[in-house]
This record gives sequence, structure tokens and C-alpha cells, in this order.
Amino acid sequence: MCGIIGICSLKDAVSTPPALIIRRGLEKLEYRGYDSVGIASIHDNKIIIRKGKGKIREVNAHKRLDGVPGLVVIGHTRWATHGRPSDENAHPHIDCKGEIAVVHNGIIQNYYQLKQYLEERGHRFRSETDTEVIPHLIEEGLKRSRCFFEAFREAVRKLKGSYALGVITVFEPDKIFFARKDSPLIVGLGNGYNFIASDIPAFLDYTRKIVVVHDHEIGYISPHEVYFEDINGRSISISNRIRLIDWTPEMAAKAGYPHFMLKEIHEQPIALANTLRGLGVEVEKAAEILLNAERVFLAAAGTSYHACLVADYLMSTVASKPTIPFISSEYKKYRNCVTERDVLLAVSQSGETIDTLMAVRNFKNRGATIISLSNVIESAIPRESDLTIYTRAGPEIGVAATKTFTTQVLSLAAITVNLAFLNGSIDRMERKELLDQLSYAPKIAEKSIMVTEGIIREFSRELSNKNNAYYLGRGIGVPVAMEGALKLKEIAYIHAEAYPAGESKHGPIALVEQGFPVLFIIMDDNNYTHILGNIEEMSARDALTIGIVPEGDKEASEKLTMVIKVPRSPWITSPITYTPPLQLLAYYVCIERGYDPDKPRNLAKTVTVE
Ligand code: M6R
Repeated sequence: MCGIIGICSLKDAVSTPPALIIRRGLEKLEYRGYDSVGIASIHDNKIIIRKGKGKIREVNAHKRLDGVPGLVVIGHTRWATHGRPSDENAHPHIDCKGEIAVVHNGIIQNYYQLKQYLEERGHRFRSETDTEVIPHLIEEGLKRSRCFFEAFREAVRKLKGSYALGVITVFEPDKIFFARKDSPLIVGLGNGYNFIASDIPAFLDYTRKIVVVHDHEIGYISPHEVYFEDINGRSISISNRIRLIDWTPEMAAKAGYPHFMLKEIHEQPIALANTLRGLGVEVEKAAEILLNAERVFLAAAGTSYHACLVADYLMSTVASKPTIPFISSEYKKYRNCVTERDVLLAVSQSGETIDTLMAVRNFKNRGATIISLSNVIESAIPRESDLTIYTRAGPEIGVAATKTFTTQVLSLAAITVNLAFLNGSIDRMERKELLDQLSYAPKIAEKSIMVTEGIIREFSRELSNKNNAYYLGRGIGVPVAMEGALKLKEIAYIHAEAYPAGESKHGPIALVEQGFPVLFIIMDDNNYTHILGNIEEMSARDALTIGIVPEGDKEASEKLTMVIKVPRSPWITSPITYTPPLQLLAYYVCIERGYDPDKPRNLAKTVTVE
């Protein structure tokens, strides 16, 4: 999704030219996915714009984005929604006279009506974007008002849809105006300078003091002032909303790894340890809420949905509490049947995924209690929840979710164990035993990565020539298989599908022929003998069978073409043992195929459009 950043600075407050700070900040937002880039500044009471289609490096090489003069600069990476990727559609967009420039993340749903209204009043449009109505709306408002902020507020009130906005104007040359609804926006507080941005890493080299902008808030920053108000013009004090972020710039950089994804895979032991340390009283509160729930729904997208499927297995088996997991964009299915006795557990790394946010809002309107699990403090979903549990995975820059999945699984397992104790499914001793097992998760992940990385690198060569793959598992291995297949698909661009292994005979096996890769998640549990049968079925059709097996395994290993051995670990932590090798496999296959795992095509880190 689009990324925005802006800085207002006093002359000597920063030693680096502001446009260079913005270009570097945009690079930190690249993980969000984009197809074009642009920068605008104010200099000599004029707006200067440089923008174009392509990657930041390419556009910068041709147009010197970071060469624009001025102390007030905004920048944007665009992920096309309305209008194809092109130089004209790249942001910033301006009004007719070029006195107002706007960067925007989100979608203006009523742009067509607004465009017609503005065209009837003589405004000329230069792009196909929804965003361009915004500078023209402000320009139109300025015909009635001499106050720019008033015209800005009026324009924002007319917008329907989602937006995070950064606006500069020659009428107030030392300010950046901002507004937010349903798209992330953060203010960064510096000394003699202030920032706005879509995400914290964009300005983390310059400040760690932040204020999260809430929905329906508008305001402005100048080098020495930050002003917030609500959409009705009532000013808002932010003094008790200032947060100090403990992420260092180094944490957000690659720390010597060639890619963020590899770094983040290797960070899992520490991310799990931090998450364990942070699991406090909220986990017990969540268990109490779930205990009293008539039904528990689990909503999420992508990898977070797979964590929900793991939770579904855990809750059914350990806590005897079956749940209803669903992909969050399908929330409308439950529109008429949710009641105030239900609980929705929403899982979202970013806390900003619009589909999950909409599910939260829908369930909330029906009176359900909302618990969320997120990695980003004060993001939209936590803010709208009754209770939030945070994973402490640190910033995840790679588009493919890795460390956030295992930390989600760990947190959900901890909730389950507490619930199981409260509802009498396990006694005090069993609770202690399971919590002890969870406390070994960091060590288990570390060992799993250490013992599998070498062999996976080797196998990745063979897999890199394939066009398809199946991932099969049973029981708790099914969501693990689904997560492995998603990783391979999204970064290595190999068509991969996951099934419960028992289902493979009901259709998927029709595609299997000599050399077709079938990857098995083989756990030492009550599914073991059944999965041996599934390996036989695939071998009989000359498939290339790859198995992730527990250390010391013999029977399955003898039947497989390729074997990846993981450390033996308790069942409750098995997704944390088995998932890192699948992440590594996707990573190394992607590298073999010559792709960039951090910026997969067509994907965005945070999906903020429905
Ligand atoms: O931030 P969220 O957890 O809500 O994001 C959900 C999905 O968009 C995300 O997991 C996506 O599937 C990743 N690309 C998976 O690697």
C-alpha cells in the first residue's frame, strides 16, 4: 500500500538536506509495496515536484528526487488503485494553480462525484487518480475562506473512504497539514523539526518520540509545533499520547543479512523470548473473556489467519473449546448472527489490515467483545478492541510474515492454556507443564533454524526448477503446511497449495506425476501412521517427496526422497518447530530463482484497501 512521509524543519535543525531525509524515509517504506514515487517541497514560495513511475533508485537517478530544495518536504510511494502506474498518476498531486500539493494513502470512494462537482466549477485534472480531487477541493474551498486550515478541514469533511493525508501549500509555507481515517499515520516529534509518516521506521533515524494520529483527526506540524483537532474543529491535547519507541534504527535495518526476510527468520528466538516476557495479565483476562463466551470467532488474513487455524486446533484439543475461524474479508457471512454473548479474537501483525478492521467493527456493532492480537502498539485494530495482547516481535520489514507468525502462535497457545485451566480441561500441574513447554519456544526455534538451514539451501536448488508444489499435513500440521505454501507462493512465485494430507486423494493427487514436489509435515503424533500412507501414495506416482520429520525418525525418512530433520519438541510448540524451515525453504528457493524476497511483486506489507 502507499507510504507517505513529510518533514518540516528549521534551517540548521538537521545536518542532512530534508529532501534526502525524505528519500531515505521512502526507502524505509518500500516494504509496503509501490509502483511509483514522488516528492514535493516548498522553496521561494513555490511548490517544486519531482515524481515518476518506477523504483525509488531509478526515479531518483533520472529526476534527483532528493535534490529538491526546501525545509518543508513531503514524499510518497504509490501502490496503484485508481489509475495505472504512470508518471502522471504518481503523487504528489496539485491544484490548478500549483499552490497546494497532496500525498495520500487510501481510497476516496466518492471521488467520481467530487470530480464532477469540481470539473463543473472549472477545475482541470491531470491524472486518473482519486487523490487529485483533494487539492482541487481545498482550492475550491479557498474561494470562500481565507484560512487554509479551514478550507482543508472542509475538504476532509467531504471525503468518503479511507485516507492518510500530507498536504503542503504556499499559503502556509512552514507547515504540513495532515488528516487520517482508516489508513495509518504517525507524527514524529523532533527538536526543531517534526515528521508525519505512514510507519515509524520512516523517521526512526531522527526521532523515537511518536504520536499516533487517530481516525477523524486532522492537524498540522511545523518545525516547532504539532497541532491536532477533531473533524469538528475542537482542539485535542496530545501531551498524554506521546510514546517513546524502543526500536533502534539498527533494529529496523538489515543487521548484516542480505535481506530483511532472512534477518527476521533468524530473529525468531529473540522475538519469541520478548513475546514470552511481555505476556502478562492480558493473557489471563483474555482467557476469562473466552471462558464466558458463547462462541469464539477468530478473524485474520494471510499468515495471521494461519495462526488462527493453529489456535483453533489448540483451543479444541487443549481447552475443549471449538472456535469459528474465518478469513476476515468474509466477515459479512456472520453479519446477522453475531450477538453480545460472542467474542471475536482478531489477529493482525500490523493492526491495520482493513479486512480485519472491518470484521472488528462489524462484530463490535453487534455487541460482541473484541480481543485483538497485534504487533503494532496503538494501531487501529487494538484501538478499537476491548482488550489487546501484543506480540513483541519488533518491526517486520519483509513483506512475508515470519517472526510475527511464530510469536502469534506462542501468544495464542498461552491464551489457550489459561483458558483450559479456567474451564477445567487441565489441572494446575498440567497447566504448569504446558507453560513450561511454551517457555522453551525460543530455544526450539533457534535449534530448528540452526539444524535445517544448510540442508534446505541444498534442496532449494532442485525445488527452484519446479512450477508447482503440494504441502500436506495432518492435524496441527495443516495450518503449518498452509503457511509454508503461502511463503513459497508469495516470494518464490511457485504455485503451491496446501491440503490436509487425507484430502489429497479427493482430487489434488490427479496432478501428481514424476518429479512433482510434495512436501510433508510429519509430526510424531497420532497422525504419524496415516501420513506414512500418504507418502506411499505419492511415491507410487513418482512424486518428489520431501518431509520435515522429527529427529531420530526412521520409518517416514526411509520412504522420502528428501528429509529435513527438526528437533523433537512438545506437540504444543510444534508449529514453532516446523514453520521456520518452511520459511527458509521459501527464502532460498526465491534466491535461487533470482527474486527479491523483501519486495515480492504485487504485494504490500499492510493491506489497507478492501
Ligand atoms: O498485518 P496482518 O497480520 O493483518 O496482515 C495479514 C496479511 O496481509 C499478511 O499476513 C500477508 O498474508 C503476508 N504477506 C504473509 O506473508
